[in-house]
This record gives sequence, structure tokens and C-alpha cells, in this order.
Amino acid sequence: MAYMHWRAELEVGHGQIDREHQSLVEVLNRLHAAMKQGKGREEIEKVLVFLKDYTVGHFRAEEALMMTHAYPEAAAHIAIHADLIRQVKDLIADHQSGKALLTASVLEFLEDWLVKHIMGEDKAFGAFLKSKGITA
Ligand SMILES: [Fe+2]
Ligand SMILES: [Fe+2]
Repeated sequence: MAYMHWRAELEVGHGQIDREHQSLVEVLNRLHAAMKQGKGREEIEKVLVFLKDYTVGHFRAEEALMMTHAYPEAAAHIAIHADLIRQVKDLIADHQSGKALLTASVLEFLEDWLVKHIMGEDKAFGAFLKSKGITA
């Protein structure tokens, strides 16, 4: 499986959101590298936890913007965020307990999720912000 590359197609048109998405891609690649280098369970867990924390922060920032600008699709978008966080927490718990280790398919799931969410819900939100003249 290849490393994930940031591409212009992923831009939603809001500076802060786009920067945070780029960072998310970087963290996913860090996870990829840790796996590829055969790092131990603890090392991989550290990156996973960092990914979760960064994602929580990013979702909060997006959700705060939704509230500030009275985004009509906020409830559905927030529910999707909560669902991903729950899944990542489960992944970490399984990893910690040794029940399941991080595999290429898990990483693929995370990458697919991120791309699908950015291209779908986040772009729709970006378009909404743009319609209000908010791009940074
Ligand atoms: Fe996002
Ligand atoms: Fe989002």
C-alpha cells in the first residue's frame, strides 16, 4: 500500500480546515511509516493516540465553525465525526489489549474514510462557508 499524498482535489477552500487536513494526511503517513519499519506495539500506539487526539481537535474546530455560522447540515456532519472517533477509540482499545494489531487494512480504512469525508461532507461545508464569504 502506498503512502497517501495530499492533492489539490482534496482542498475544501477554507484555510484552517485545509491545513488541518494536510496534517491529518501527514499523521496517517507517520502511522504508515511506523508499520512499514516494523515498529513495536507501543510505538505504533503512540502514533494512533496522536492521530485520535489530532482528529478530535480538528473535528471540534470544524464543529465550532458550523455553530458560529449556523450550518444547517451540522447535526448529520457531527454525528459522522462522532462515529469515526468511536471507531478509532475501539481500534486503540483493541490494539492496547493485544486483541488486534494495526494492519494495512486498518490503515486503508482510515485513509478511505478521510478521503471520502473530505470529498463529501467537508467539501459541502467548505462550499457553504465560501457562499458566506468565509475562506480562512
Ligand atoms: Fe475535516
Ligand atoms: Fe468533517
